[in-house]
Amino acid sequence: MLINSIPLLEAQASSEIENIVTTTDRLFRYANDTAGRADPATKEALRYRTALHHGFEMLERQPVSTGMAVEVCRTIKGVELDIRATPGTALVNDATQQVIYTPPEGEGVLRSKLANWERYIHEAEEIDPLIRLAVMHYQFEAIHPFVDGNGRTGRVLNLLYLIDKGLLDIPVLYLSRHIIRNKSLYYQHLLQVTTRQAWETWILFILEAVRTTAEWTTAKIHAIRELVEETAGAIRQRMPKIYSRELAELIFVHPYCRISDVVNADIVKRQTAAVYLKALAAEGLLQEIKAGRENIYINPPLLALLPERE
Ligand SMILES: Nc1ncnc2c1ncn2[C@@H]1O[C@H](COP(=O)(O)OP(=O)(O)OP(=O)(O)O)[C@@H](O)[C@H]1O
Ligand SMILES: [Mg+2]
Repeated sequence: MLINSIPLLEAQASSEIENIVTTTDRLFRYANDTAGRADPATKEALRYRTALHHGFEMLERQPVSTGMAVEVCRTIKGVELDIRATPGTALVNDATQQVIYTPPEGEGVLRSKLANWERYIHEAEEIDPLIRLAVMHYQFEAIHPFVDGNGRTGRVLNLLYLIDKGLLDIPVLYLSRHIIRNKSLYYQHLLQVTTRQAWETWILFILEAVRTTAEWTTAKIHAIRELVEETAGAIRQRMPKIYSRELAELIFVHPYCRISDVVNADIVKRQTAAVYLKALAAEGLLQEIKAGRENIYINPPLLALLPERE
């Protein structure tokens, strides 16, 4: 349930930092859409979610590494890219076109800096992993190994790193929430590490990001759990014939629920699934909308708990 929802919030905010703007409603709506009906920004943000899931699976076989960074960036961008081989990448101010920061050049240089980055994150064991997280994120962004997608790749790696180090079980920390709410500070602090070695301010900024988003996410998880219990109770009481725990949970796994979702979850066969969803809508627990020839059943109280900005 959580792994289906929180990463979509993270994907929405982290992509918006790059001005790829979509809504959580659209992300939920197209989360499992294989027909490619979503708009480009929604697709790109969904790829961020996929990168998070894919990276999480990779962690079972290997620690956070350069190879994983390449894989994450490929998934986000949806193309077969690799470490930058050509010069010319620079961070420019969109409004003034002024160059803010020029990262190192040359594939060999980038790879050796990434090797150093890898060594630091796995070997500096005497330093608290949260502090290493801050240092690693700066280091990765300063190396800027790709032509584009460095910010998002770095933010996916942040979560993967916390999982790698055992501080998080699944990728459900909404860390980009704090970053997008403080975007200019985020950019400013990154730059000041380069210009003034202002490590302390940067590290405190990331620690604060972890603290506030951990609190926010925990509160959200409790609220979601309460809503599940409340909804399950309502179905059991008002519609005992269709009640099952799996059905109650399913409409939280898929806040935009389709008949096929019920069938794929092995709850009931197609015709019965249609009847169940209609019945839940008639009771006011779901909201039915038409999308082409298909009916989609929305879980409005859950969506109300998961807004893009709060
Ligand atoms: N002064 C700086 N030094 C190093 N890195 C920086 C600096 N300012 C910003 N950055 C990083 O560079 C990222 C932008 O790089 P890039 O466009 O390659 O990434 P993106 O994922 O496409 O974009 P975005 O991070 O904006 O979503 C920022 O998100 C931030 O992490
Ligand atoms: Mg970019």
